[in-house]
Amino acid sequence: MATANRGAFSNRLGFILAAAGSAVGLGNIWRFPFEVGLGGGAAFVVMYLLFCFLLCFPVMVTEVAIGRKTQKNAIGAFNGLGFKNWNFVGKIGILAGILILSYYNVIAGWTIGYFIEMVSGNFGISKVFGSYTSDILKVGIYAVIFMSFTSYFVSKGISGGIEKLAKVLMPSLIFMILCVVIYSFTLPNAMEGVKFYLIPDISEMNASVVSGALRQAFFSLSLGMGALITYGSYLSRNDNIVSSSAFITLADVGIAFIAGFMIFPLVAYNNGGDMSMVQSDQAGPGLIFVTLPGIFETLGPGLGAFVGGFFFLLLSFAALTSTVSLLEVPVSYAVDELGMKRQRSVILVAALIFVVGIPSLLGNGASDFFTNWFKMPGGSTDFTTLAILTTDVLLLIGGFCIVLFASYIWRKENLHQELASGYEGYLGSFAHKFLNFTICYLSPILLGLLFVVVFLNNYFGISLI
Ligand code: TRP
Repeated sequence: MATANRGAFSNRLGFILAAAGSAVGLGNIWRFPFEVGLGGGAAFVVMYLLFCFLLCFPVMVTEVAIGRKTQKNAIGAFNGLGFKNWNFVGKIGILAGILILSYYNVIAGWTIGYFIEMVSGNFGISKVFGSYTSDILKVGIYAVIFMSFTSYFVSKGISGGIEKLAKVLMPSLIFMILCVVIYSFTLPNAMEGVKFYLIPDISEMNASVVSGALRQAFFSLSLGMGALITYGSYLSRNDNIVSSSAFITLADVGIAFIAGFMIFPLVAYNNGGDMSMVQSDQAGPGLIFVTLPGIFETLGPGLGAFVGGFFFLLLSFAALTSTVSLLEVPVSYAVDELGMKRQRSVILVAALIFVVGIPSLLGNGASDFFTNWFKMPGGSTDFTTLAILTTDVLLLIGGFCIVLFASYIWRKENLHQELASGYEGYLGSFAHKFLNFTICYLSPILLGLLFVVVFLNNYFGISLI
């Protein structure tokens, strides 16, 4: 096995920061608030937290264990364990990674664009968000720039690129978010936003809320597509998988939760305390791109440019540690299985993904065809549909197959053996019992059932809950 030159994380902290960097991204700061808004506020938050800890944390542990055991990429890992006919799970994962990065990169590009607009004091941009995203030359260039940054860090390898990036960006990100939260709380009506965010309204609970929360949990924790199999494959045998995964889950959930305290007070301030808009016109993917610049404008030209620039820079940082993980999945496959050099495979895969992303670039107004081609029943048009499709279908199927595979095909004894490496006293502990129950029973059953609920709800408009 040519593992020697695959690269590795230099230590456990490097792994945790890189994996937390993968998890914390646009999903936490751009998507979480608008999903909360559409899902009716706190009811959504409660479901989301339950899913993260009961369903997703066990899936994460399983992915990392499979990766570390085999020291292979998402497809190679299944071959490495001797179950070639299960490597379809890795194939679905790589497909999901390519599709997710293809549109994620477009939004990440907007964040650089918005950073530039804010710094130059162009707050009016929020009123013309639609024409901004359809300005193909601008958004195209930003997308190229973002993909180039991502490619640069992935081409530098694991410890020299991905890990170094995360070590600098993650602490900066947390610092920046806290600054904005403190600032938000000083604004008039901030508490109306907090109430909307934290006080659940049980009557809001329905199948769309459940499916939104599940989708958000999977997406936010980077699960179901082998990203953590891949990162796990660069982790040392002496490191504790269970506590590392717990830490990553807490960091991700914590940052999403704190991001809510950044956004909702700002929204409440902007709307004089009325939170109904987050469920209506300005809701959805435009939430932070439309609402926030208007708020920054009210701060006056100097302060507004500073806070606004700071916010969108923070968002680009968060996005970059996620895009590197999405690109690393297919790249690691190309390096391990096709024997390609890292640099060469980065260029080829990044170019491929950019091309796959062209409909997403054009699908926000630039081309009528691509704006309307994917239409879900009752759902939105354009690439948000692609976002939902990849997450709800590919990631959920991936996650379901991964836990099923580990419990019953590879077998749970082997899984626990792997988890015990680097965790003295694991066997027989509470963690062992909890993970055994969740990985072998709770996660597969719930994921299977929820997949059916989500699928029927999204594509056939049938609500089972
Ligand atoms: N978790 C990231 C976010 O919240 C997105 C992401 C990165 C991702 N890698 C992934 C999602 C792998 C699913 C699978 O923005």
